[in-house]
Amino acid sequence: MQGEKQTVEGRGEWRSRVGFILAAAGSAIGLGNIWRFPAETARHGGAAFLVVYLGAVLLVGLPVMVAELAIGRRTRRNPVGAFLVLKERTPWWLVGALGVVTGVAILSFYSVVAGWTVGYLIKAARGDFTGVTSADQAGEIFTATVANGSWNMILHALFMVLTMVIVVGGIKKGIELASRIMMPVLLTLLAGLVVFSISLPGAEAGLRFYLQPDWSLLTPTVVIAGVGQAFFSLSLGMGAMITYGSYLGRRENLLTSAAWVAGMDTCIAFLAGLVIFPAFAAAGADLANLPSGAGLIFTVLPTIFSSMPWQPWGGVIFGSVFFLLLSLAALTSTISLLEVGVSWAVDELRWTRRKASLLLGAASFVLGIPAALANGGSDLFTRQHWLGMDFMSAMSTVFGTYSLTIGALLICVFAGWVWGVKPALAELGDGCTSPFVMRFWSLLVRYVCPLAILIILAQSLGAIEALMGLFQG
Ligand code: PHE
Repeated sequence: MQGEKQTVEGRGEWRSRVGFILAAAGSAIGLGNIWRFPAETARHGGAAFLVVYLGAVLLVGLPVMVAELAIGRRTRRNPVGAFLVLKERTPWWLVGALGVVTGVAILSFYSVVAGWTVGYLIKAARGDFTGVTSADQAGEIFTATVANGSWNMILHALFMVLTMVIVVGGIKKGIELASRIMMPVLLTLLAGLVVFSISLPGAEAGLRFYLQPDWSLLTPTVVIAGVGQAFFSLSLGMGAMITYGSYLGRRENLLTSAAWVAGMDTCIAFLAGLVIFPAFAAAGADLANLPSGAGLIFTVLPTIFSSMPWQPWGGVIFGSVFFLLLSLAALTSTISLLEVGVSWAVDELRWTRRKASLLLGAASFVLGIPAALANGGSDLFTRQHWLGMDFMSAMSTVFGTYSLTIGALLICVFAGWVWGVKPALAELGDGCTSPFVMRFWSLLVRYVCPLAILIILAQSLGAIEALMGLFQG
């Protein structure tokens, strides 16, 4: 990091506000937007889910993001150090420690799935999907691909090395530069795909499914799914935004920065839906019964690519561009997953950035090996005896869902009640002028967010059903 403007203890700082916003948006935008968001939308009834999701981003996601950025910028520390600075000699630093562990753990399986996208990019570019027109054929390809343990591990290793190289580069030369280049490419590619997709014959049914709400489909499950998706997609609950906020200059307005990041993330997810649903409809897929889980993108899209005009080139180009897009989006997210642990090791253990990136990346790679073998590569990890799931699904549930949700709840309680809204608001006041917006934020972070998250947790743990059972019985 020589040559960078050294701030507190030489940690580095974003070169510019735009650089920060692009990097944070890069963290948020990932497999969560382009794969998970359309899958959740399909599962939960289309446009009704979209509306709930937008509400969740505004009412729960944005306030938590502002809280994380404020904690990070106030303390200029990694998540563990941040809690230690604000509340010495209390166990609150454990929230940060949970974030560091969660980051390495999510990275371990996220890198495996990201490796699949690279594998599919290679396949698409080679024309392997040409003539694959039935979902069964595509499903066979998917099953065979993910069952190939050694190939999965090579791609997983490749992705982890890419992530480590960028994180070793540091704040300005690594993360910010990579995001500055990748984010605009991503937006451009996606916009091109949207135009292509909605111009396909028969695309209107997909647009209707995606944009015309059927309110009879709105249930508590849909609401809960929307809020959960908002956390995952906005990279909240594990201190990624605390870390990115810690490299942010004093003068930046945290509220507008958060709004930009959440806005771009939501925009990309929305555009991804505009690519996927019209394309599905054009291919004659049954929108009410789309496959869910890992299969959605990997088993349905190849059939769509090969039913496009100008075969085989139409399919090869559309397919390659799409999986390139997904790989780039995943890379800007894996960077942030690793950076949380690296910032902790650099600040607290005084490791060099290089040593921290290499060791934590290696640890995450090793932890990802069972995940790479969990879809047929090895019987041990594929069998459903990891909390009743295969190993990868278990990791995704424990760290991708529960850890993030619990983390977000604790961060809200900390910002709203323990650190307190007064100092938090003072931090927000640096660069923000609207007292009304600040008061609204404290209301959300103290009451609305913690309550909403508690309800989600209780619901997903089955506690609410159990209580209802007690009352009824
Ligand atoms: N937000 C990322 C995505 O949508 C995933 C992520 C979660 C990244 C948590 C960092 C922290 O793919």
